[in-house]
Amino acid sequence: MIDHNKLNSFWEKNVPEKFKHFLGSEWVPKAKPYEKDLKDKLLRNINFADVCIALDWGCGGGLGAKLLAEHSEVIILDIAKDSLDECKQFLERNGKSIRKKILLKNLDSFKLDEKIDLIFCASVIQHFPSFEYWQKIVRLWNKINPKWLAIQIRHGEVNQSNESSYFESERNYILGLILTTDEVINSFKDYELVCNELVDDNYSMYEYFVFKKKDC
Ligand SMILES: C[S@@+](CC[C@H](N)C(=O)[O-])C[C@H]1O[C@@H](n2cnc3c(N)ncnc32)[C@H](O)[C@@H]1O
Repeated sequence: MIDHNKLNSFWEKNVPEKFKHFLGSEWVPKAKPYEKDLKDKLLRNINFADVCIALDWGCGGGLGAKLLAEHSEVIILDIAKDSLDECKQFLERNGKSIRKKILLKNLDSFKLDEKIDLIFCASVIQHFPSFEYWQKIVRLWNKINPKWLAIQIRHGEVNQSNESSYFESERNYILGLILTTDEVINSFKDYELVCNELVDDNYSMYEYFVFKKKDC
């Protein structure tokens, strides 16, 4: 059972800003290469003529949302209120606006009231508290039924995750959920895989996927 309140408050109160929002001096040299990877491995493989509204799942400080806003309207979603505020301000400082911000409080009762064309989720799935949580997200994203999905995960072998004590510890939060290539591909059977790239940054293996709905 996921304690959603605990998950929200962990991200709001315990996780340092630099990891949550990719801010601070440590991030200055990393931000450009990160944006380049998001563009090269995710965004350039999406046909944005199809996309009116993108949903940025786990927007953090807004590096991904800012890139999305160059192509479509953007709804930002996060479990931390300060991430939503930070992201909105970051986009405004960059001359962009958001369509809506959504504070995710409980996955079980989550509902959207508008059609989403793209779900984008980068540097977030690794923070999911368990494999069961990922499976819930998969069911939800399939139900939302966007034309496109663009996601980045931490890649690894089966059972390599460190999920059990995840949000009880401030230090190991970043070592949460690791997924295999097949675990991701098999989650979206109504989608064709448009691109898939594995990157080793000497700290971890990251994997990028873009999926397109088969009947679109
Ligand atoms: C490292 S940042 C992601 C940054 C952003 N996606 C980007 O590409 O710049 C992680 C963000 O994910 C959020 N987050 C963590 N767990 C989440 C969950 N289960 N659902 C949605 N957002 C989550 C955190 O609050 C934080 O704002």
